[in-house]
Amino acid sequence: MAKSSKNIKNTQSRYKLLIGGFLLIVVVSSAIIYLAEDTLSNFSNTEAEYVVVEEDTEKTENGIHKRTGFIEDTGMREVITNCTSCHSAKLVTQNRMSKEEWIATIRWMQKTQNLWNLGENEDVIVDYLAKNYGPIEKGRREGLKDIEWYPLN
Ligand code: HEC
Repeated sequence: MAKSSKNIKNTQSRYKLLIGGFLLIVVVSSAIIYLAEDTLSNFSNTEAEYVVVEEDTEKTENGIHKRTGFIEDTGMREVITNCTSCHSAKLVTQNRMSKEEWIATIRWMQKTQNLWNLGENEDVIVDYLAKNYGPIEKGRREGLKDIEWYPLN
């Protein structure tokens, strides 16, 4: 009787050992799987991830500001800041005006288009515009020469 109860106890403790060992294996292996998967997915993440190399559009290349097309010169920054928020820079760069005409255009925009007071930046802006987007000297077609006139009948 005493012997068999000891046997039972032995079997029980063996069982406990077995179950304990089994549980330990389960826990350890799931931990390993978990960690391995984590590193694996991390790995694939870094592979899938690509860095978008944003082209630096604030660069100037060959004296031209890349994003806006403005000619690089004193006052360009002020012009970009003040003249490109309502319309494209093209509207500015495609124009050629004298200093007075630029001022008149600015006044017109201030009167009718809510352009703000340019304050102390106005001088540098107007100078920049008149210098880089002034009237082309040979804007007009040259006078005709050597014309063969013929009488109209
Ligand atoms: C508050 C808004 C605003 C700002 C800032 C602004 N403009 Fe304008 N500008 C306008 C509007 C609106 C027009 C008319 C656009 C159109 O006709 O499509 C215009 C038109 C123009 C034109 C064309 C004029 C014409 O006769 O066709 C030029 C050139 C111009 N702007 C230059 C400038 C310059 C230089 C600056 C900076 C000093 C500037 N703009 C800043 C609103 C603005």
